[in-house]
Amino acid sequence: MSEPYLNAAGMTGGYGTGADILHDCTLTVNKGEIVVIVGPNGAGKSTAMKAVFGMLNIHTGSVTLDGQDITSMSPQARVSIGMGFVPQTQNVFTSMTVEENLEMGAFIRHDDFRETMEQVYELFPILRDKRNQSAGELSGGQRQQVAVGRALMTKPKLLMLDEPTAGVSPIVMDELFDRIIEVARTGISILMVEQNARQALEIADKGYVLVQGRNRFTDTGQALLADPEVRKSFLGG
Ligand SMILES: Nc1ncnc2c1ncn2[C@@H]1O[C@H](COP(=O)(O)OP(=O)(O)O)[C@@H](O)[C@H]1O
Ligand SMILES: [Mg+2]
Repeated sequence: MSEPYLNAAGMTGGYGTGADILHDCTLTVNKGEIVVIVGPNGAGKSTAMKAVFGMLNIHTGSVTLDGQDITSMSPQARVSIGMGFVPQTQNVFTSMTVEENLEMGAFIRHDDFRETMEQVYELFPILRDKRNQSAGELSGGQRQQVAVGRALMTKPKLLMLDEPTAGVSPIVMDELFDRIIEVARTGISILMVEQNARQALEIADKGYVLVQGRNRFTDTGQALLADPEVRKSFLGG
């Protein structure tokens, strides 16, 4: 067995000099997989994503991407080697237009990014229609599309999404999940935190249940959905 594409292993750490939030937390993603993290509020899901992206100092554990040890690499350097991250909050520039947001996403690129922008518009046609509107005027679902599109502008190999469907209607949620599946089919690996745990696990190759900064359950999405204990404690029965 070769090493997983992303191997965030045994991460322990917290914010600044505060207490540890993550305790021996491990997350792995293989090429082209959709991996979903679920768990109660405050479980450390966003913190784990930040740790993988290099926004948190972990004092134990390591992160490798495609076999390369990136544990001490800055977030910006991680972007340049293929990580894209859509944070849970403040993930668009509301005063800029949709197109300016996408251009900002391409900040690390020195080549022609118009083709990538075209791909983003094909994935999210509404963004093409609204390209000259400020992102602040868009609906929640459209704003999330801008945020995902912006991350795609760097041509990531691993796309990390923290609650991409937060605050959107069930129909918009389904649509966003369909687009995420489409992105995964192009070979991009997905690591995603989701509050809509049931629906997210339906599309997950692998799921993690995190509780108090620790791995509690890890299995295929289907197996977690079928597990009575997971259902009872984390999926509302
Ligand atoms: N910037 C921060 N500074 C200090 N503590 C934080 C910060 N962000 C989150 N925390 C704490 O870390 C814990 C986990 O939070 P978080 O990772 O946001 O959980 P989740 O995303 O699973 O809801 C919580 O106790 C929260 O209060
Ligand atoms: Mg969170």
